[in-house]
Amino acid sequence: MKACIAGTGSYAPARALTNADLERMVATSDEWIRERTGICERRIAATGEACSDLAVQAGKRALAAAGLAATDLDMILVATCTGDYPLPATACLVQHQLGATNAAACDLSAACCGFVYALSVADAYVKNGMRYVLVIGSEVMSAITDWTDRNTCVLFGDGAGAVVVGASDGERGILSTHLRSDGALCELIMVPGGGSRTPPSDKVIAERLQYIKMKGNETFKVAVRTLEEIARTTLSANGLRVEDLDLYVPHQANVRILKAVMERLGLPIEKVLLNLDRYGNTSAASIPIALDEAVREGRIKDGSLVMLGAFGAGLTWASAVIRW
Ligand code: UT7
Repeated sequence: MKACIAGTGSYAPARALTNADLERMVATSDEWIRERTGICERRIAATGEACSDLAVQAGKRALAAAGLAATDLDMILVATCTGDYPLPATACLVQHQLGATNAAACDLSAACCGFVYALSVADAYVKNGMRYVLVIGSEVMSAITDWTDRNTCVLFGDGAGAVVVGASDGERGILSTHLRSDGALCELIMVPGGGSRTPPSDKVIAERLQYIKMKGNETFKVAVRTLEEIARTTLSANGLRVEDLDLYVPHQANVRILKAVMERLGLPIEKVLLNLDRYGNTSAASIPIALDEAVREGRIKDGSLVMLGAFGAGLTWASAVIRW
């Protein structure tokens, strides 16, 4: 018995922030950002638009695509590192807004790997008899971005993507998921202030510790290594070759990371979903947004073999392979 993806949806805030806009905010250039990252623009949530607002829109679209009502859901998982509040879980706000009166709801924190981690949880629950789980990756990265730090502020964007996971009626479905972590590398990407170790204070604000800090160059190298390694593990666990894949949908962090991974795996660019030029790095939202675009554009069809690959803060890295 397998779990499958019964519907996808996504939502991006209306406002686009271009590289030209960033040139007016920090010492950077459109040329540097395009060449070093592949990003041209990113979407930014409106004032007052929070993680759950984006998540609800993506969730509604995924439910519509699956032909289901919110009351059909048994569980809502929101993968995010930018929830509306430290407490309660954003998933509970989504549950209420959707009217998913039969659903359990909780958040999952695994940064950019959050969606793939949550998908693996949904997969396990559905295999154990749960009917429908709504998995959402939703992020308002603009809220934890230091808009005075050119090392990070050019990278991130806001958005949400969602999938409904239900029981498969045949061969299609999630073939396997693979999750890894290495907390020894926790300092590569971190929001150092605002949590229980360094609670909010004037000092936190003065030192801008409530924002993302990243050792970009070191992260880059680990990302290439871990994405290659987990892709190979995933393929071999399923007796598959790279050539068997119809589409690789990676976390959208940096086009140079992805090109290095493609080269190492021998994966042609036509088989890789790249949309970071338009969204930047939307953390846990990047893979489900990309999946939804691929489905709606016909790049993923019934029977397509799709591999996901993610890495991010923690560090965590994760993958899944799906027969659509
Ligand atoms: O999903 C979370 C996972 N995170 C990631 O995947 C991020 C991984 N890392 C990266 O994507 C890249 O490391 C970055 C895009 C963040 C940086 O690219 P890089 O090629 O590794 O550049 P660098 O950090 O080695 O910096 C090169 C130069 C430095 O100047 P000097 O020291 O050579 O004079 C930086 O100060 O580029 C400078 N720089 C910039 N220049 C213009 C850094 N940011 C900018 C900027 N505009 N925005």
